[in-house]
Amino acid sequence: MVSKERLLVEGNGALKGSVRASGAKNAVLPILAATILASEPVTLKNVPKLQDVIVLSKILEDLGAKVTTEGDRVTVDPSGIHKTRANHDLVSQMRASILVLGPILAKFGEAEVSLPGGCNIGSRPVDQHLLGMEALGADIKIENGYVHATVGKGQKLQGNHHAFDVVTVTGAENVLMAAVLASGVTILDNCAKEPEVSDLALMLNQLGAKIEGIGTDRLTITGVDKLSGGEYSVMPDRIEIGTYMVAGAMTFGDIVIEDCVPEHLEAVSYSLRQAGCHVDVTDREIRVYPDLAKLKALRIKTAPYPLFATDMQAQFMAMAAISEGSSTIMETIFENRFMHANELVRMGADIKIDNRIAFIEGVPKLSGASVTATDLRASAALILAGLVADGTTTIGALHHLDRGYDSIEEKLTNLGAKIKRITLA
Ligand code: UD1
Repeated sequence: MVSKERLLVEGNGALKGSVRASGAKNAVLPILAATILASEPVTLKNVPKLQDVIVLSKILEDLGAKVTTEGDRVTVDPSGIHKTRANHDLVSQMRASILVLGPILAKFGEAEVSLPGGCNIGSRPVDQHLLGMEALGADIKIENGYVHATVGKGQKLQGNHHAFDVVTVTGAENVLMAAVLASGVTILDNCAKEPEVSDLALMLNQLGAKIEGIGTDRLTITGVDKLSGGEYSVMPDRIEIGTYMVAGAMTFGDIVIEDCVPEHLEAVSYSLRQAGCHVDVTDREIRVYPDLAKLKALRIKTAPYPLFATDMQAQFMAMAAISEGSSTIMETIFENRFMHANELVRMGADIKIDNRIAFIEGVPKLSGASVTATDLRASAALILAGLVADGTTTIGALHHLDRGYDSIEEKLTNLGAKIKRITLA
């Protein structure tokens, strides 16, 4: 069913004030999946209110877990999980649901998870997830749209030395979760170093896992027999924070983002400084305030952490659209992640795409238009563009936005934005 919800954004000048970051979507998803590995209840704190969290919670409940939510705390009691098949109806709602494969396989010796379908931003295969599990001794088959992974009867996964061919965030997380309960030692090389991988590893260690090398591209995991329950607080969402940083820059405002790990935002801070913004960093806060009349053009290339995140690319394209001169953005992670460019062009941006490079000529002003969000970060880019456009921007396909931004209307309104959600008659 096509949703009748729309977001109306009016260009309303500088955004000012403080905003608090929520817990990270890309950390809480693997961490929720990891609760399957525990033998007792796990309480997660700082859990963002997001559609993706609801979907993963439903998958856990469908497997047999008891999930209780109280404010930003979610408790998962995995003791009732006996089912090892994650069904298509739920999994197809979110690609990251493949993250339950490793934990179910490690705990029960078999797992069946529907293959996540295609995705707007590229083909996004899961071969690296499966190769890693095969390296730990799993037998993998793909049948009727499901991945069937098994270890011999009464057997456990076996530690091994495995190197990923491609740097993959959820791939590393999935294999890491599988290795935690394997016999012996597993060494994973060429692991993604994204902070969300580290947050998962820290949570697993909190429950009794033995993972060394956290934050590096080599994780060494000494298998344990079981994980206990416990508590863990999810890291702040660096992509949400980066999005508010760009909002401060684009509106020539003055925004303080609270509850950050500024180190996670070094690439974003660097690029904003290159564009001419002040970015002040304290222990847990970042302040962004440009004091020039026009932002400067940028050259950006997306790459694995600690370099410039693909999840910030769309937001910087919106910023480049109103910066002075010619910017280029090269997308190296996903092959089809420029769909927001067309929507920005409808708002008056001057953007040309040649394969993996976007060429953006800054224009003096964008104008409000009716646009459609094409994926999660594209929706953020359209909101940012709407904040600086003349007139009203009407954004449709909000299910993308709701997957990943906790209370964005409320947070932006508190900073002075004119933004509201309506339902068309
Ligand atoms: C995660 C993030 C997503 C982010 C992306 C890149 C979550 C829930 N999502 O997605 O927000 O944009 O990292 O930082 O954390 N690849 C393969 N084979 C595989 C897996 C990946 O070839 O088995 C390729 C992909 O096609 C892509 C690259 O590896 O070109 C990186 O993708 P990956 O890091 O796996 O992205 P996700 O983990 O899906």
